[in-house]
Amino acid sequence: MGILDGKQGIIYGVRNEKSLCWGCAQSLAREGARLALTFLGEREEKDVRKLAPTLPGGDRTVIQGCDLTSEEQVAALMETLTKEFGRIDFVIHGAAFANRDDLSGRFVDTSRAGFAQALDVSAYTLTVAAKAAEPLMTEGGSILTLTYLGAERVVPNYNIMGVAKAALEASVRYLASDLGPQGVRVNAISAGPTMTLSARGITGFSEMHRESRERAPLRKNTTIGEVGDTAAFLISDWSRGITGEVLYVDNGLHILG
Ligand SMILES: NC(=O)c1ccc[n+]([C@@H]2O[C@H](COP(=O)([O-])OP(=O)(O)OC[C@H]3O[C@@H](n4cnc5c(N)ncnc54)[C@H](O)[C@@H]3O)[C@@H](O)[C@H]2O)c1
Repeated sequence: MGILDGKQGIIYGVRNEKSLCWGCAQSLAREGARLALTFLGEREEKDVRKLAPTLPGGDRTVIQGCDLTSEEQVAALMETLTKEFGRIDFVIHGAAFANRDDLSGRFVDTSRAGFAQALDVSAYTLTVAAKAAEPLMTEGGSILTLTYLGAERVVPNYNIMGVAKAALEASVRYLASDLGPQGVRVNAISAGPTMTLSARGITGFSEMHRESRERAPLRKNTTIGEVGDTAAFLISDWSRGITGEVLYVDNGLHILG
């Protein structure tokens, strides 16, 4: 028996087997959840379709393309889930994007277009995902997003993504306040540096990854399994008293001066 038996919901953000959201998918499925996984583009679809059957109960997984910046695609996904699931209990949001040029050098050089796109994809889409899911969360639920310490501190080259994550964390609090009365909780996991496709786009990430392993109190890098297991807890009823929270899963890195 798992802590998520009978729960069903969506995970936006499985790119490949290294994705933080894939760690979430594995932990949630192991605990009994039924999943809908989304993808962006053909390459990602191929990877997601290959990965999904490896999950416990993977044959029950719904797989559908969904770009969270497209109102039509979000509406189409909700239509599918209304038919397939009827009700949803959770949403995991792992969507983020910034131009590679804006993830190096000086933040002061960020373009207006680059700023707008990073904030739209990396912060506003959480609100899009929450609003779309709200009518299907008829028995309450749990919404979770992924953030990083660069929201609060200056991390070299993180630049516009740090500003987007600050907006994302503030959105978590406002959404938690709005949706709390109907029993929907909204939280974030602040993950330590993890070697994923997106992370590789940040200039100097490999050194940061190595240094964080050397400095973190637990002397190791964050894994997708550590994030996934915490996600399972935050989706489950075991965390029913927690909302509007940013929980660090970074082997203690954030406590250092
Ligand atoms: N890797 C790290 O070190 C780290 C640390 C803290 C937080 N995070 C955050 O974790 C989340 C997942 O990133 P990851 O590191 O696993 O990388 P990843 O590249 O594996 O995943 C990023 C995902 O975002 C999705 N995405 C991008 N634009 C989208 C859109 N418009 N609509 C829907 N989905 C979209 C991509 O399809 C991809 O699946 C991101 O929010 C990232 O900022 C990562």
